[in-house]
Amino acid sequence: MSRRVVNVGIIGGGLMGREVAGAIRRWPTLVDHPVEARLTAVADINPQALSWFADIDTVRGLHEDYRRLLADPEIDVVYIAVRHDLHEQFYIDAIRAGKALLAEKPFGIDLAAARRIVRVIEETPGAFVRCSSEIPFYPGAQWVVEAVRAGAVGRPFSVRAAMLHSSDLDLDKPINWKRQARYNGRAGALNDLGMHALHIPLRLGWEPASVYGLLQDIVPERRGPDGWEPVDTFENAELLARVPATGGEISLRVETKRVSLGDKNTWSLEVQGLEGGVRYSTKNPKSVEFFRRVDLPGVGREQVWQQADTGSVSVWPSVTGPLFEFGFADSILQMWSAFLAEYAGELGDRFGCATPHEALEAHRIIAAALDSHDSGRAVALP
Ligand SMILES: NC(=O)c1ccc[n+]([C@@H]2O[C@H](COP(=O)([O-])OP(=O)(O)OC[C@H]3O[C@@H](n4cnc5c(N)ncnc54)[C@H](O)[C@@H]3O)[C@@H](O)[C@H]2O)c1
Repeated sequence: MSRRVVNVGIIGGGLMGREVAGAIRRWPTLVDHPVEARLTAVADINPQALSWFADIDTVRGLHEDYRRLLADPEIDVVYIAVRHDLHEQFYIDAIRAGKALLAEKPFGIDLAAARRIVRVIEETPGAFVRCSSEIPFYPGAQWVVEAVRAGAVGRPFSVRAAMLHSSDLDLDKPINWKRQARYNGRAGALNDLGMHALHIPLRLGWEPASVYGLLQDIVPERRGPDGWEPVDTFENAELLARVPATGGEISLRVETKRVSLGDKNTWSLEVQGLEGGVRYSTKNPKSVEFFRRVDLPGVGREQVWQQADTGSVSVWPSVTGPLFEFGFADSILQMWSAFLAEYAGELGDRFGCATPHEALEAHRIIAAALDSHDSGRAVALP
């Protein structure tokens, strides 16, 4: 089958830029995908970061100025993974240059930036923009979505979503841009991790009417190149939101933490309803639990959480055996398969990447949580 080649440019060749380059190199493992993704150019102000990409045979442009990449008419799609304070300008420039865009979260450093990005999308005919959030592409996360959509939990009344790290427990770790408000945004870990936790709740239509936010500044300073520097972002956040829904309100609890003991990129989602429950955590990446009332032999009718293993099957078919394990790199590849299938108009009813509306909604929730933290009151989301 001859597939349409899509030339991809990466802006920001750091942690995530390299991860995405790795995913694109694994593109042939996708079965019957409508496009062939080809990494064609990379931009980064750091020549050392650029040099990592020099050996990739499809890459023919390495630029220190990202505007040169955007000016290349052969680039169709751009992935941008830079500091949050740069998102707004870079995303707007990419959209105005006519590129399709997979933007990194949090989609602008704050709500005002996100609103300006969305305005440019609306003003630009044919703009195609999505926001990165890959964990929902784990098969277990997809099972949660499918179980809820199939009505397995009945009327949901309680949802818990979390994205937890423990990296900031290391007090000797030097300061970096993710711990400084001017680069990361004041909301700190909530800005960094909020989209991950909120993608599926928002996709399932659970938009909060009000939010109570408790944000914690746990580590006040870290060593920088010139001595101790203040850490002016919040490490941990806990949000309680009221979500109006048919049949009754849902309580949505969201946790994003950089100091959560023992957690390394632990994403979890639990949905409880009057007829059942379903929960999944990347801590046990194959395992999904379903709540049922069942007749236990010799015991009687009881409440049980039953466990089932997922295989490797996510949104797009791949050559990986269906019983094999799925991991972070696979979630990035699956997110890209969904992004480019939707770009090609062939995603169908499969699960898609976070939309600009969902990214904006995540920012509205983050901003309300900050307001709530400052005022000590729950904040309504009009
Ligand atoms: N989806 C995920 O799971 C995930 C994980 C980590 C980070 N992220 C997001 O990805 C983005 C980048 O994070 P990262 O961890 O890759 O950061 P990073 O610091 O590892 O990489 C950022 C890169 O941007 C480059 N850069 C800085 N200024 C630039 C400029 N003017 N032009 C071009 N390049 C420039 C830097 O040299 C660096 O190589 C952020 O938005 C972050 O929130 C997403």
